[in-house]
Amino acid sequence: MNTRIPVRLGDRSYDVLVGPGVRTALAGVVRGLGARRAVVVSARPPEWVPDTGVPTLLLPARDGEQGKTLSTVEQLCGEFVRFGLTRSDVVVSCGGGTTTDVVGLAAALYHRGVAVVHLPTSLLAQVDASVGGKTAVNLPAGKNLVGAFWQPSAVLCDTDYLSTLPRRELRNGLGEIARCHFIGAPGLRDLPLPEQIAASVTLKAGIVAEDERDTGVRHLLNYGHTLGHALEIATGFALRHGEGVAIGTVFAGRLAGALGRIGQSRVDEHLAVVRHYGLPTALPADVDPAVLVRQMRRDKKSVTGLGFVLDGPAGAELVTDVAEDVVTRVLAEMPRADLADLVGAATTGPVPA
Ligand code: GLY
Repeated sequence: MNTRIPVRLGDRSYDVLVGPGVRTALAGVVRGLGARRAVVVSARPPEWVPDTGVPTLLLPARDGEQGKTLSTVEQLCGEFVRFGLTRSDVVVSCGGGTTTDVVGLAAALYHRGVAVVHLPTSLLAQVDASVGGKTAVNLPAGKNLVGAFWQPSAVLCDTDYLSTLPRRELRNGLGEIARCHFIGAPGLRDLPLPEQIAASVTLKAGIVAEDERDTGVRHLLNYGHTLGHALEIATGFALRHGEGVAIGTVFAGRLAGALGRIGQSRVDEHLAVVRHYGLPTALPADVDPAVLVRQMRRDKKSVTGLGFVLDGPAGAELVTDVAEDVVTRVLAEMPRADLADLVGAATTGPVPA
C-alpha cells in the first residue's frame, strides 16, 4: 500500500510518496511541473532510475561524504549548462542522503533555483535527509557548513529500493526511526517497516511545516543527535550516524532522568526502544568522555554551554546550558562496549519486516 504525505509549506508544499514502486510516479511529477528536460543524478545503477517522460541526461554520482563538496556542485551545474537545462526544467536525485544533499544544493543554486525531485534509496534518506529541504555540502573545516533550504517538488520513497540495502545500512536508518518514539510518534516499533517510514515522514512533515527554517521546534528532530554527532566524530565515523543517534538517545534518556525531568521507567523506555531495533546502546570503550564533552560544546544547538533535546513533563524540548558535571557523570555511568561489538550488534540483530 502506498501513502501520500503532504508537507504543507504554502507555495512550497509538496507530497512525499512512500511504498513499493512509487518511483514510477516520477514521469507524472515531471509532467505536472511542466519541465521539458531533466537531469537525473544517480548513485545507483541506471535500471534503478525510472522514466522521466522527457529528454534526460543521466549523471552518475557516488554516495559518501567525500563527494559532498562545492566542487561537486560546480561540476553538476556545469553539466546542467552543457545539457541546456533551464529554470523551468527539473533535477532528480537518486541515492542516499549525501546524494540528495549535494544534488539539492546544486538545484538550489542553479539559475537561483530549479525544481528538484528526490528518489531516496537508503532508509536514512527516506525517513530524514530527503524530506524538509535541508541541502548542504562539507568544507574541510566541518560537515554541512555550506547549504541552503531548498524544498523539493516531490519525494518518492520507493520501499523496493530497500530490499537490497545492506543490513548495517538499514540499521543506520532505524536509529532515526527509533528516536521518533520520543518526539511525537510513539508506538511505531511494532508496525511493518513501510508504515514506520510513513509515520516517521508524517512526523517530520508536521515539524517542518511548523518550523521550516529550523529556528524552533525543528530542533526536536535532533533528539539523540548531540552525543550521536560527537560519537561519529570521536570514532572517526566508524559508528554510522544512526548508530550514534541510537546511543545518543539512550544517553538523552539517562540525562533527562539525572536532571529530574523524567522518571526511571521513562529512562528505561529509551533503552528498551533502542534495543528493540537491535541498535547499539553502550558507549565505545576507548572513547574519552572529555573528548565527547568538548565535541558536544561545538554542537550547532549549543549557543552557549551544552545543549540537548531532552524529554520532560511536557514532552521533548531543547534544554540549553546543561551543567557539565551532570553530563560528565551521566557519560561515566553509561555502559561501555568494544567498538567492534557495537558495530557487530548493528550487523547481526533482527531485520525488520
Ligand atoms: N535532519 C534534521 C532536519 O531535517 O532538521
